[in-house]
Amino acid sequence: MVKLSGSILAANLSNLESEIKRVEKFIDEIHFDTMDGHFVPNLTFGYPLIEAVKNCTNLPIDVHLMVTNPEFHVEKLKEFDIQRITVHLETTYHIHRLISRIKEYGFEAFVALNPGTPLYLIEEIIPFLDGVLVMSVNPGFSGQKFIAKSIEKIKTLKNWKEKYGLNFSIAVDGGINETNADVVSSAGADILVMGYGIFKNNNLEQFSKLLKK
Ligand code: DX5
Ligand code: ZN
Repeated sequence: MVKLSGSILAANLSNLESEIKRVEKFIDEIHFDTMDGHFVPNLTFGYPLIEAVKNCTNLPIDVHLMVTNPEFHVEKLKEFDIQRITVHLETTYHIHRLISRIKEYGFEAFVALNPGTPLYLIEEIIPFLDGVLVMSVNPGFSGQKFIAKSIEKIKTLKNWKEKYGLNFSIAVDGGINETNADVVSSAGADILVMGYGIFKNNNLEQFSKLLKK
């Protein structure tokens, strides 16, 4: 069954606790977008806010690192009670080493790809991954338009699972909502990351039930 991951970047951050409480029964995990103003043109949140989120919910947390020098941040994150670290292929020369480190620290390791980054670049490390995060917008902001070409990447990844006999997760992030969630999950997505689709959704209960069917 498809999992829903709520990206708190789209929440009303002045009421973060009540925002998380409002949606928590309809989602499976919290998606935590850390941006550094270098790799992407936005600055968001880091370590202290992970603690704050932990104090609001028991849902698992996925930290999506959109930062240069992810190695530094992975070292810092090893002390945190989180489920997963997602790193961008574009931010490191040594993806295999970084993935190994993340797993050594007991976290799930996902690799994210920008819309312009071809899938073949991760074919060698696929067996070492717990999942791939297909970015369906250019990272930096919530509320952008879904890039439809991402569907092809999701389908290819699904084929790779069979081709290589692997069981990694396919997550998709950016511009997912009521109008395309179905298409994205039918293409092979296991985890739908949504900011607006969850926090700005007036019909979240119904939407979540429908997707879980
Ligand atoms: C974009 C972030 C996404 C974003 C998703 O850089 O990584 O997680 O918050 O938000 P929506 O679903 O509104 O596009
Ligand atoms: Zn994200």
